[in-house]
Amino acid sequence: MKVLVIGSGGREHTIAWRLAQSNRVSEVICVPGNGGTAHESKCKNINPKDNPALQNLSLNEAAVNVARSEKVDFAVIGPEDPLAEGIADSLWNAGIPTVGPKAKGAALEASKDLSKIFMKKYGVACADSETFTDKSSALAYIRQKGAPIVIKADGLAAGKGVVVAKTLEEAENAVEELTANLGEAGKKLVIEEYLQGVEISVLAAVSVTEESAAKGTACIKAFLPARDHKRLLDGAQGPNTGGMGAVCPLSDVTPETMAAFEKNILQPTLKGLIAEKMDYRGFIFFGLMITKDGPKALEYNVRLGDPETQAVLPMMDFDFSELCEAITNGTLNKFEMKWKSGFQVAPVAVSGGYPLKYAKGKVITLSNSVIDAAGAKVFIAGAIEDRRAKTPTLITSGGRVLACSAHGDSFDEAWKKAYEALGGVNFEGMFFRKDIGLPGAAESN
Ligand code: AMP
Ligand code: GLY
Repeated sequence: MKVLVIGSGGREHTIAWRLAQSNRVSEVICVPGNGGTAHESKCKNINPKDNPALQNLSLNEAAVNVARSEKVDFAVIGPEDPLAEGIADSLWNAGIPTVGPKAKGAALEASKDLSKIFMKKYGVACADSETFTDKSSALAYIRQKGAPIVIKADGLAAGKGVVVAKTLEEAENAVEELTANLGEAGKKLVIEEYLQGVEISVLAAVSVTEESAAKGTACIKAFLPARDHKRLLDGAQGPNTGGMGAVCPLSDVTPETMAAFEKNILQPTLKGLIAEKMDYRGFIFFGLMITKDGPKALEYNVRLGDPETQAVLPMMDFDFSELCEAITNGTLNKFEMKWKSGFQVAPVAVSGGYPLKYAKGKVITLSNSVIDAAGAKVFIAGAIEDRRAKTPTLITSGGRVLACSAHGDSFDEAWKKAYEALGGVNFEGMFFRKDIGLPGAAESN
């Protein structure tokens, strides 16, 4: 079978790699893909920008066009933006089974106000909050509640929409800045109770339709818990980034915590998706704070996490293409997810200067002997093929450049292998955290 993967990051390279490992999959078409998928076995990139027939189409239209011309059996959507714009609606309308929610479900990530209304309506354990559309009431509420307090812009803001304010002054400034700088995304503010604890990410497969809800087969199945490390520097210091590395599973997360998550977050979410008559066949990513009162939902993302995917998918001991089909054809309830034992560690290498200004176009050298000896897999994120070069050359094109993901029977073994493999990667300005997964590395309040 043939599969279409939409997206160009490390998450999408990992999805494409995992699909290509299936004997059932003959080809993975990546739109647009990146420098990693360009060389991955069975994978082929199609970049609409380089293709006269696709150049003037929206991504939704280009996806339908490629899905038809390549006769793919199903599509997997990586990022949230095309989902919010209805790419899953377009593909399903064209008869292409699609892993990724339709626009109505994707709004759970695209609007923080909407996701809080949903959580409260269906009793999902989460922080108290109020939503404001005018600044003066927002400021009055903050003064009444006091700091610490969390200010969130309602819309998608590429990681710049949340301020955890330690003081009243910081909170007041955040209200001014988010409303002034974020345009439409900052028109509504969600002001939220500050939660103390440590963060985890639980990614999950979802298969909810009106039909499966009526049959009682609608379900959400959680993957092993994982953790991203969002701060730039060791010890969870420095500015927030898109993610500096991930680990899976987590030895500090107890079965009791996962049982409380299932009961107080996952099941109420499923109830809500069913009650709202969502057609949600895809992935959901629960951002959780593990507080002294148990896990609380911070947010929903309507896709897999990046870089969590680079640590979670290699732990799967089942065929990912079969999981995707079970999601789309309504048999997820019968699908058995088996997991490898041990741990996966995936530190990310970034361009110097990231998350602010950084150079692009730096040549990346990968020493396959070092990486293979370490037993790691490199997942490319912000890197493309340099078409001007005579021999295939990878050059940096983004802030987060790649992740080295390694498995070990113990956490220490996985950690050592991943970092040994990073020793085989080089580009000018390369930077990475040296403590991914170690004590003191996790974000906590
Ligand atoms: P979000 O986009 O909602 O996940 O927020 C981004 C980050 O802000 C989270 O990963 C947390 O580190 C932090 N955060 C969000 N909400 C809260 C909260 N209610 N209490 C404490 N920290 C929070
Ligand atoms: N790792 C955080 C995210 O994917 O949003």
